[in-house]
Amino acid sequence: MSSAELSVFIRAIGVHTPERKLTNAELSKMVDTSDEWIKTRSGIAERRIAAPGENPSDMGAKAAAKALERAGLTPADVDLLIVATMTPDVPFPSTACLLQAKLGLRRDIPCFDVSAACSGFVYALQVAKDMMRSGAYRRTLVIGSEKLSSVVDWSDRTTCVLFGDGAGAVLLETTPEKNVGLLGNLLGADGNNSELLHCIGGGSAAPATTDSLRDGKHFLRMNGKEVFRHAVRVMAESCERVLAQCDVKSEQVAWFIPHQANSRILEAVASQLNVGMDRFPSNLERYGNTSAASIPLALEEAWTDGKLKHGDLVLIVAFGAGLTWGATLLRWHEPPR
Ligand code: UT7
Repeated sequence: MSSAELSVFIRAIGVHTPERKLTNAELSKMVDTSDEWIKTRSGIAERRIAAPGENPSDMGAKAAAKALERAGLTPADVDLLIVATMTPDVPFPSTACLLQAKLGLRRDIPCFDVSAACSGFVYALQVAKDMMRSGAYRRTLVIGSEKLSSVVDWSDRTTCVLFGDGAGAVLLETTPEKNVGLLGNLLGADGNNSELLHCIGGGSAAPATTDSLRDGKHFLRMNGKEVFRHAVRVMAESCERVLAQCDVKSEQVAWFIPHQANSRILEAVASQLNVGMDRFPSNLERYGNTSAASIPLALEEAWTDGKLKHGDLVLIVAFGAGLTWGATLLRWHEPPR
């Protein structure tokens, strides 16, 4: 059999979220906001905040260890590591290399980060799939891990209420079986709208200085209304395009697992696709927007809740800074618990 015929499926999944919960009530004491405003406008009630010294490589390593444990495998069984993050531990080396060391992965494997903000997990899945179908890599860890609390301006009420920290990991494996695992996908980007959601300081264009720190240039800034508008349109379109590509009707999809940014975005996308919210599981209420970690967190929760069944068609879709977006249709393969 030629290696081009290999399929790639999710063999196991694991997550890790920090213990500390930050509630809307606490935020209301920090900025001029209210539990009612945050819940009504975003669906978020609380989010997790990483402890000092608890970094994306630490959270990602814990999520990955859980996935490996569930699969009954060890770090030595991993052939490739891709980490999706917009909040790397340090500018370099990559969070993947730091995570490789913490997890004790082999030294003869490629380890690298993917930078596509909230779409990072979907981008990383696609990169992994294409590298694996060549037959060169049998098992891959794809991890979304974020510490958004480190780039949020805690005095800006328009953003600080939305984001949280956490990590999710999937262990991908190749199989000669047909029509399982990751089926169709698409990725896209629009750099002309990069200023809608960005962080302008701290990179090589504007290295940190006393002035840049004073001006808050190392914080995330967002034009929420515009991002919202793009997110709804692009996420709905991406779903439709992947379904058409796979010749699948939306009625055949058991679960839609979208990037968790705002419950009103999810409702608008569901409505455009003419799909009931009962097929759009969400954990926004408890985690807020965890960027690249949000899809694996939601996927794991839908699975542990007993929603996902072997053979179900699942459509994951993301949108984020860049702008970037991506969607993947997959046939769920019941992983070990
Ligand atoms: O993950 C990547 C993608 N990110 C997203 O998808 C986020 C997309 N955007 C959003 O989710 C929404 O746009 C927000 C939740 C950020 C904002 O909701 P909105 O309905 O678009 O509100 P808005 O920005 O139009 O603000 C409405 C009002 C404004 O007051 P005025 O100008 O009407 O007097 C804001 O100043 O609400 C005010 N406001 C707040 N009030 C209380 C903004 N933030 C807050 C707040 N608490 N936290």
